[in-house]
Amino acid sequence: MPVAQIDGRAIAYAQFGPTQGVPVLLIHGFPLSGAMWDDVARVLGDVLGYRVIVPNLRGVGESAAAGPTAITVEENAHDVLGLADHLGIDRFVLGGLSMGGYIAFALLRQAQGRVVGLILADTRAGADSDAGKERREDLANRVLTDGPAAAVGAMVPTFFAPATYQQRQDLVDRATAMIHGIAPATIAGLARGLALRPDSTELLATITSPTLILCGSEDSLTPPAEAEAMRARIPNARLIMIPHAGHMSNWEDPVAFTAAVASFLESLR
Ligand code: MLT
Repeated sequence: MPVAQIDGRAIAYAQFGPTQGVPVLLIHGFPLSGAMWDDVARVLGDVLGYRVIVPNLRGVGESAAAGPTAITVEENAHDVLGLADHLGIDRFVLGGLSMGGYIAFALLRQAQGRVVGLILADTRAGADSDAGKERREDLANRVLTDGPAAAVGAMVPTFFAPATYQQRQDLVDRATAMIHGIAPATIAGLARGLALRPDSTELLATITSPTLILCGSEDSLTPPAEAEAMRARIPNARLIMIPHAGHMSNWEDPVAFTAAVASFLESLR
């Protein structure tokens, strides 16, 4: 996996498809790695010929270690912009699932002019409630004590639609293994950073790029009502629900998810 030096910090990234042209940058969720995008990115890049770039955020995989102090959405957005600079990319389509969406909002605050299309999957504009912030801190402390298993127990049951959780052991195992691959300090740092993220609701009306919103119809972490609220506020947004899917809609129905993204990318050409 290639590694870029961003302000002296290693950020690893995967590339799919051609290495020229306006790319789509896909940002991963918490507490996962860029590999969560593999299925979608392979089809978009290797089959459909779109340029796709997937960073591992700081502390993840071969990227430089980070945490356990807060790793903020602003810092992550800065790294993604730094990666784009490193690759000589001026404008790009930006996509993020869940935490990836929170980071996309932070990136829009830093450099909205560089984003020519936006994909918000299973995410929300709001900040954490006080109770949510306490849960993040509790999770950070438990992961630092007990390791990633604490995050597996807290997160994986909420990732999927109930039927997926019961019947798709392969996806449950995949999420479990991916979380076990993330350093405890990183999980703690990202959790603390998520607790600090600002409310992005006011930002939504200022988004100028065409926007695709995707949401699993059974997403309990960032439910369809959140997706609909974003659609109602973003001027040029379309919402596509993924039936029978939960929070990990790109894993639960990769065909529907990828088809929606591909058709959106086509509309931007
Ligand atoms: C994610 O999938 O990135 C997380 O579930 C986001 C969150 O905990 O808010």
